[in-house]
Amino acid sequence: MQNPIAVVGGAGRLGTRVTRRLTEQGHRVRVVSRRPQSGRLPLGVELHRADVRYADSLTPALRGCAGVVFTVEPGTADSGPDSPETTMHDGVRNVLAAATAQGERPHVVLVSQIFVTRREHPMNSYGRLLDWRLRGEDAVRASGLPYTVIRPSWLTDDAFAGAGVRLEQDDRGDGWVSRGAVAEACVQALRVPEAVGKTFELYNEPGEAPHDWSPLYRRLTPDRLLAWSGRVG
Ligand SMILES: NC(=O)c1ccc[n+]([C@@H]2O[C@H](COP(=O)([O-])OP(=O)(O)OC[C@H]3O[C@@H](n4cnc5c(N)ncnc54)[C@H](OP(=O)(O)O)[C@@H]3O)[C@@H](O)[C@H]2O)c1
Repeated sequence: MQNPIAVVGGAGRLGTRVTRRLTEQGHRVRVVSRRPQSGRLPLGVELHRADVRYADSLTPALRGCAGVVFTVEPGTADSGPDSPETTMHDGVRNVLAAATAQGERPHVVLVSQIFVTRREHPMNSYGRLLDWRLRGEDAVRASGLPYTVIRPSWLTDDAFAGAGVRLEQDDRGDGWVSRGAVAEACVQALRVPEAVGKTFELYNEPGEAPHDWSPLYRRLTPDRLLAWSGRVG
């Protein structure tokens, strides 16, 4: 039997779309959330109750997974359990530890956001959200696992900015991207070998949705060749 793919935050708006697409492609999917409910999820997904802030709760949910997609929404408090530090940094590290506890080497897809390298952006005034997200990214990049870091621009529920996609790597832009396009980027990252070891921002633009993501991922520069990478989380 194939090993499952865990979608952490899989009951959320993006996570549900990722779960649906993976299920359509025939994957075994585990939805990991604090309050898992089968209502909007495809039949057959495995539901696991876990909280990324509490390492022990993750162990059974992430055991034996072939892939992990992290789509958790951060808190915005300055400190304490609802701070970005606990979810976007400690939480990411807890997920990495639980997903590798028995020697597994899952492909980790981390959903982050644009602006993470722009410390002066007003979003950083919410519990240093951007700083902690970047440190969570760094932990993934330093994990030694196959990984892909996706930095969506502002999320929308429909593709009003167009169905085409644009991938960038300098974190200087601003714009919109549909949750459907981000979900597809996550699913394709698990499928396309050229997505491994890459970090990119994602935008919609006028045009058609890509049929093949391989050329898009192939054109990206590997993180090990980018000037800002190499930090340790
Ligand atoms: N909104 C934007 O414009 C924007 C832009 C760029 C990136 N993003 C990022 O994209 C991702 C998806 O966004 P979304 O709007 O689809 O999010 P969402 O609908 O709020 O879903 C996020 C999920 O995270 C789960 N979660 C929260 N805290 C958790 C914890 N401690 N442990 C386990 N699960 C937890 C929640 O499920 P439970 O409550 O059941 O645990 C929730 O369903 C987020 O990381 C978001 O920050 C958003």
